[in-house]
Amino acid sequence: MGLACTTRGATEENLNESKFRCPHQGMRKGLRIEAFNYRFEGKILSKEQKEQKITRRQVLKYAGAVGVAAAVVGAGVGWIAKPTPAPLPTTTATMTATATTTAVPAEAPVLEIYHWWTSGGEAAAINALVKVFNQKYPDIAVLQTPVAGGAGYVMKAAMKSLVLAGEAPDAFQMHAGYEGKPYFDAGYLDPITDLWTQQGLAAVMPSVVQDMVKFGGNYYAVPVNIHRPNVVWYNKTVLDANGIDPATLTSWDAFFAACDKLVAAGKAHPVSIGDSGAWTDEHVLEQMIAGEGIDFYENWVNGKVTSATDPKLVHALETFKKYLGYINPDHSTLTWDQATARVITGDAAFNVMGDWANGEFLVAKKVYGKDYGTLATPGTAGMYGLVIDCFQHPKGVKHPQNSRKWLGVVGSKEGQDAFNPLKGSISARTDADMTKYGPYQAAAIADFKAAKYMYPSVTHGSGAPESFATKATDIVSAFVANKDVSAAATALVNATTAAAADYTTVWKLH
Ligand code: BGC
Repeated sequence: MGLACTTRGATEENLNESKFRCPHQGMRKGLRIEAFNYRFEGKILSKEQKEQKITRRQVLKYAGAVGVAAAVVGAGVGWIAKPTPAPLPTTTATMTATATTTAVPAEAPVLEIYHWWTSGGEAAAINALVKVFNQKYPDIAVLQTPVAGGAGYVMKAAMKSLVLAGEAPDAFQMHAGYEGKPYFDAGYLDPITDLWTQQGLAAVMPSVVQDMVKFGGNYYAVPVNIHRPNVVWYNKTVLDANGIDPATLTSWDAFFAACDKLVAAGKAHPVSIGDSGAWTDEHVLEQMIAGEGIDFYENWVNGKVTSATDPKLVHALETFKKYLGYINPDHSTLTWDQATARVITGDAAFNVMGDWANGEFLVAKKVYGKDYGTLATPGTAGMYGLVIDCFQHPKGVKHPQNSRKWLGVVGSKEGQDAFNPLKGSISARTDADMTKYGPYQAAAIADFKAAKYMYPSVTHGSGAPESFATKATDIVSAFVANKDVSAAATALVNATTAAAADYTTVWKLH
């Protein structure tokens, strides 16, 4: 293979000249991300695409350009309230692979995917997955567009603009649960129930996972993993040196007592956080909300916490306020992985983060149980939060058959067993090859199987409607600055009430 494009030497000024047109996909005026991609590498070869990096600035610049196009296309149309949703197929009979193959003209041997996996561990994981795809489909060049910004806080906004402008890539990273609903409601996704059937996925994925990628009775996404958000990462050397037994840190009070001990020993900021992306604040508070008990969390995700004086809400905020007393003063300048790196180096003792952090420890060649360890965030032992990454089949994509091939690899045992051991997550399949997973994940798999309760993350798109979740991020971020418990509680319940009509899922968590 080797699909040489003719964009080498293109500049931003001459980019639209026909000599720089990609022979496989024409450039669209005003929507030139493909051209930017090609210009990055000069040619599209899947191997080189692995190294491709798009900076946040470029993406934002691009997202702005597309936003203009989207505004024209959508003519003032809101994101969720698109007035005339495309009719959804009532049957999957016409969506079989055969029908798709015969109905769609030969397509370019290209697959375009977007994701936000840009940290060391994340990049290693997606590259391993792409490698499995490359081995299976050596003639298809994979164009990855990695958009920096943990939890997708940059990519998610850019993706809406792309989708609205009719420029969806062949598949993009998306969380299970509510996050896909606006796309589904507006008719931007194809059902892929037939693909689930062909791949036999229903037999190998837990029903809790399956339910989160179904809308209106059909499957609309393929999960690639299950991440756990309620994890405290600790530096074992630091705890050992200070006589702190992590097994005793089962309550926030015990955790804060350990922090006091570390402060007294000269470690002024024992807890690291990197909230240059504000989601990390909400991520921590969310685990404290879960620590208030599964009943309370269930009410939280069902939009039923509507009193600003609810004792559990107030207690969770008070706990978070106390936690903030131990964090690094430069938190707003760090990304999540830079904060995790503080624990890796021993500059900090603790970091609350989802288990994508394990990928960073692995890249740094740290040994679980020797250099670092984990515990469930206090109050959540026996509980497993759910953060599930998926890919889907957007309607009208340029390479529909390649999109399906990608989804096939994403859901496959081989694909998941290549991706997840590096990513820190566990496979979304129950038949994972355990020999491929390290000790952290072996423990996580055991915890998942033994979990008394599971709960969907709001911070990571699944548990609550977007109309609430985006406001919640801002409210919690403001709280980190002003530490006003009453103001945050009031703002959160107001946001819940304002989003009341959007709470369409009734979660039953126990
Ligand atoms: C995603 C993970 C990712 C993390 C940090 C989460 O929302 O589910 O896959 O590693 O964000 O970017």
